[in-house]
Amino acid sequence: MRAVVIEAKGEQARIVEGDEVELLAAVAEDATVELDVSYSSYNYKDGMAIAGRGILRNFPAIPGIDIVGVVTKSGSSDWSVGDEVVLNGDGIGELLPGGFATRARVRPDALVRLPMGISAHRAAAIGTAGFTAMIAALKLEDGGVRPEDGDVLVTGAAGGVGSIAIAVLASAGFRVIASSGRKDAQGDYLRWLGASEVIDRRELSEEIAKPLQSERWAGAIDSVGSTTLVNVLAQTKYDGVVAACGLAQGPDLLGTVLPYILRGVTLTGANSVNAPRELRERAWAALAERLDLEKLDALTQTIGLAETNPYASQILAGQVRGRTVVDVNA
Ligand SMILES: NC(=O)c1ccc[n+]([C@@H]2O[C@H](COP(=O)([O-])OP(=O)(O)OC[C@H]3O[C@@H](n4cnc5c(N)ncnc54)[C@H](OP(=O)(O)O)[C@@H]3O)[C@@H](O)[C@H]2O)c1
Repeated sequence: MRAVVIEAKGEQARIVEGDEVELLAAVAEDATVELDVSYSSYNYKDGMAIAGRGILRNFPAIPGIDIVGVVTKSGSSDWSVGDEVVLNGDGIGELLPGGFATRARVRPDALVRLPMGISAHRAAAIGTAGFTAMIAALKLEDGGVRPEDGDVLVTGAAGGVGSIAIAVLASAGFRVIASSGRKDAQGDYLRWLGASEVIDRRELSEEIAKPLQSERWAGAIDSVGSTTLVNVLAQTKYDGVVAACGLAQGPDLLGTVLPYILRGVTLTGANSVNAPRELRERAWAALAERLDLEKLDALTQTIGLAETNPYASQILAGQVRGRTVVDVNA
C-alpha cells in the first residue's frame, strides 16, 4: 500500500509505502468494504488537511475526502467484488483514513455505484466539489426556484464547487451569473462553462452594504460565506433560495433577519459529508444526466500523489481553476 500519511498533528505529509494494517488502523469498525483505489480528488478541505489546518482528527492520518475504486472484499450484501464505486465524504480524509492511498476500507452505506457512462477518472473529477454543487442545485430546485424566476448567482465561480455549479445550473436552463475574483483571467472560461455574465467578486466581498439591497437573484449557490453571503442574501428576490456550502472567504455571517422576514428568502445549506444514501444516489444520477462530460474533462487536471503536498498552498490561495484529480497510482 502506498499513501500520503501525516504521522502526527503538525507534521508534514509524506508518502509512505508500508503495512496497510497500520495505515488503516483508525478505520471505523463498520468499514467492511475494501477497495483498490483508482483515483481521489483534490478539494479545498484536502488543502486544509495537508496544511495542518485542523481538519484531521486521528493520527496517523491519510488525507483525501474522495475515493473512486473497485471493491476487492465486501462484508456487505449490497456490494460485491468488482463493483466500481464512488465515495464522497462520510468522514474519510478527516476522521478516517482517506483517498490519497492505493487501498481503503470504507463503510458500505456511503458508497454509490459509479453511474453508467461516468468513468472512474470523471467520477473523481466530479468528486466532493461536484457532488456538493449538485446537492446545492437540487436544494434550489426543491425550494421552487425555476429558470423563469430570473438570474441565479454562483460565487467562488472559478473554484471546484463553483465551476460545476455553473455547468449544472446552465444545463438546467438557468441564466447564471458568476462572481469571481479572477474575472479577467477566467471570464472566458466561466462563460464557456455556461455563465451569461461574470461579475467581480469585490462587488460582494468588500463590505456589507445595506441589509436589503436591489433584488437581483432568484437563487444562489455560495461557496464563499462571510460578507459575500450577507450581501447575496440582501440581494435575493422575494421567495428566493440561497444554498450555502462553503467558507472560502470566512465562516462568519453578520447579517440581519430582514431578507427572511421581509422577502421570505430561504437560506439553506448543502452538506456532502453526511448526506444520506438516497440523496447521494439522487445527486449522482442528476450529475450523470446533466453534466457535460466533455466540459468536465476540460476543467480537470490530474496530479500524482507526490504533488499533493505543494498543491495545498495553491488551492488555499484560490489559485486552482476547476477540478483536480489525484491519480494514486502515479
Ligand atoms: N458543504 C460541503 O459539503 C462542502 C463540499 C465541498 C466544498 N465545500 C467548501 O466550499 C468551498 C469551496 O470549495 P472548492 O473545493 O470549490 O474550493 P476551490 O476550488 O479552492 O474554490 C474556492 C473559490 O472561492 C473563491 N475564493 C477564494 N478565496 C476567496 C476569498 N477570500 N473571498 C472570496 N472568494 C474567495 C475563489 O474563486 P474565484 O477565484 O472565482 O473568486 C476560489 O477558486 C470551501 O470552503 C470548501 O471547504 C463544502
